[in-house]
Amino acid sequence: MSRPFYITTAIDYANGAPHLGHAYEKVLADVLARHHRMLGDDVYFLTGLDEHGQKVQQTAQKRQIEPQVLVDEVAAVFQQMLGLLNISNDDYIRTTEPRHKVVVQAFLQKLFDKGLIFKATKSGWYSVRQEQFLSDKDRDAEGNWPSIYGEVTQTTEENYYFKLSQFQPWLIEHLKDNPDFINPAHRRKQVLEFLKEPMNDLCISRPKARLTWGIELPFDREFVTYVWFDALTNYYSAVVDKGRWPADMHVIGKDILSPPHAVYWPCMLKALDIAPPKQLLVHGWWTLNGSKASKSDGNATDSLSFAQKFGTDAFRYYLCREMVVGEDADFSSPNFAQRYKADLGHNLGNLVNRLLNMVGRNYAGTVPAPGADEELEQNLRKLWTETERKFFAHFAEAQISHALEALWVFVSAMNAYIEARAPWKLAKSAETADRARLDSCLAHVAEGLRLTATVLTPVMPKTCEQLLINIGLPVATSFASVHAWSTVCTGAKVAEKCILFPPLEEPEAPAKA
Ligand code: ME8
Ligand code: MG
Repeated sequence: MSRPFYITTAIDYANGAPHLGHAYEKVLADVLARHHRMLGDDVYFLTGLDEHGQKVQQTAQKRQIEPQVLVDEVAAVFQQMLGLLNISNDDYIRTTEPRHKVVVQAFLQKLFDKGLIFKATKSGWYSVRQEQFLSDKDRDAEGNWPSIYGEVTQTTEENYYFKLSQFQPWLIEHLKDNPDFINPAHRRKQVLEFLKEPMNDLCISRPKARLTWGIELPFDREFVTYVWFDALTNYYSAVVDKGRWPADMHVIGKDILSPPHAVYWPCMLKALDIAPPKQLLVHGWWTLNGSKASKSDGNATDSLSFAQKFGTDAFRYYLCREMVVGEDADFSSPNFAQRYKADLGHNLGNLVNRLLNMVGRNYAGTVPAPGADEELEQNLRKLWTETERKFFAHFAEAQISHALEALWVFVSAMNAYIEARAPWKLAKSAETADRARLDSCLAHVAEGLRLTATVLTPVMPKTCEQLLINIGLPVATSFASVHAWSTVCTGAKVAEKCILFPPLEEPEAPAKA
């Protein structure tokens, strides 16, 4: 029986265009999903769109269209991004779908019936942008509301509340008993720190006078539910009839860890007698030339054009290699060009062409069987054993950038091996021993590239497919064959040449002042 692996991303807000942060999160989850498929796990990969709430209602009003028309438009654009990035999701959930609404309403009704929802009146400062009441501790040092809250107004309102606070002791225990619940570990510490203060109950309704674009409370049709209660439920509603719960991994950004994913969601599930998800994988933020990539700034969409310009796989590689999962990273065009040239074009791409060239010239395009087995060959094989161990250990922790770093040490070592063997000299020698060395050199590089392309397939699916086809091998669908150095390349018919990473056009020079 294969192990189930149910992985999700955050569902993106339908109030703007997709940006680099959205792209990264989907790529990260996709790479993990593909990696688990190749491990032989029974993977289910969900992503989707968060379509309710005040911001969507406001944007639709401004444009004088129905909110449903707006979110249909936005959904098409986000789904186009998934296509561009070659994301292999099994399902796409939209929170306006009936299959989702019925589950949200069933959740609300069950909590209401259990006496875990009550009605109360509250007055205070309300942020339209964040759709939440604020307290004085949300003010900045000068006593003003930080700009992230947008317009802040005084509001008095009767609403429904979920008895969140009563689950605080359970949540603390749960975090303590499950060190893997939040990855990376420093984020878990932050949440535990946050939980030292007593929590408030959670307002889970919005009066229709203010917001109609939401899911109605089943026990009071004058209200719709709070957008976070609605949105979080997607992870469950999408698989309710598929036997996939609990989720193995929710991939999210650091801004939505606490309280939504680390507090509201596990407590909601606990209250409903449903098991919590196994892990929250929390990534950091991309900045674009130093500033946060977000819809409101409108600076981040351009970065998607990189995927179009330089290829989906190069873009995927860059995102995975450049961001240490859990930390922030900066996206810049010179940095992208540098990695593209050095890691991809020079280190990997040239190596492939060297192999094709030498095999074409000296063996009529057929990979020879290994001949000599000297220290150089033995060292390369040993390095693979070490690389493979590190690569999979890093992936098991979702530390993709470290896994790639380890893999590139091996790619560099293959280049160094070729330099040391100098097959172009061996090819001119009449000695039998030199011929045996030449056999080994090309056989070893072919095998090293096979192993590299196989484990790299989840990160660069199309490129690795091309690479394997060009060395005369079938595409990789499993990792079963990477744990031992093999001779499966012997007799493979290689292509004449292949251009995996076409040279970049030089970026335009900045305009002279
Ligand atoms: O938060 N770098 O939607 P969203 C990296 N609808 N990741 C970023 C980012 C950046 N600059 N900016 C945003 C929402 N993200 C809710 C989620 S889940 C039940 C509901 C990440 O469109 C962000 O952290 O604002 C989040 O994980 C995802 O993009 C969607 O953000
Ligand atoms: Mg956001």
